[in-house]
Amino acid sequence: MKNKLTSAVVAAQWRDNQADPAAVVRHAVELYHPALALAASFSLEDLVLIDLLMAVRADARVFALDTGRLNPESYDCAEAIRRRYGVQIEWYFPRHEAVEKLEREKGLFSFRASVAARQECCFIRKVEPLQRALHGLQAWLTGLRREQAVTRSALPVIETDAAHGGIVKIAPLADWTLEQVWAYVRAHKLPYNRLYDQGYASIGCAPCTRAIAPGEEQRAGRWWWENPEHKECGLHTHGRPPPT
Ligand code: ADX
Ligand code: SF4
Repeated sequence: MKNKLTSAVVAAQWRDNQADPAAVVRHAVELYHPALALAASFSLEDLVLIDLLMAVRADARVFALDTGRLNPESYDCAEAIRRRYGVQIEWYFPRHEAVEKLEREKGLFSFRASVAARQECCFIRKVEPLQRALHGLQAWLTGLRREQAVTRSALPVIETDAAHGGIVKIAPLADWTLEQVWAYVRAHKLPYNRLYDQGYASIGCAPCTRAIAPGEEQRAGRWWWENPEHKECGLHTHGRPPPT
């Protein structure tokens, strides 16, 4: 079974496939489809990966976590992508009982109270649904890049995801710059989230995302009231790279 592969075998399979994102995506599909899926928030990076993925297989899998608090522009972008590729996006929604309890007991903006309160909301709306989305998968793709944040500066292209049962986690764009991402989006005329034209550089839930000023870091508009070291919601708790 592929999900029983040892880290050493995984490392050997990937050693020669880490340079070119298109090659990484192709290799991932060959190895793991249909037990492979892309996690998409319809960021610019995710659009690049969807385009690469659909070029390999039209039935490649894409899932998205609908937190219930996304911007209308994010839903518009998701629909534009669905229409362009004919891809059936596998949407996941939070457990309604957990959201109802949170909102009844702590209100609609509890995440502003503290880092712990914010992580509680992220757990209910993102982390738990992610666990369901990853159930049964052997590998997942993400649009993470090293340049995005201090918390991501050591990001490997491939790692074993200890936080999710040791499945393989792949970031084909790990070493791409924002300029490279934009160049791909423009060259391929990908329909992108309109908020990028309004100064947004990283887009999550509406109440926790703002536009950034020129010169600010790419993720400065996410949870802007917190320190950069805390700015992860729990989707990307670090695994470890496979041995080389
Ligand atoms: S986050 O952890 O801070 O929210 P970020 O917005 O930078 O992450 O996105 C990084 C990658 O995480 C995306 O490229 C995508 O692969 C995945 N991701 C983030 N949010 C979602 C979501 N709502 N649904 C599916 N995947 C997501
Ligand atoms: Fe809740 Fe904000 Fe996290 Fe979205 S980003 S799940 S609204 S705390």
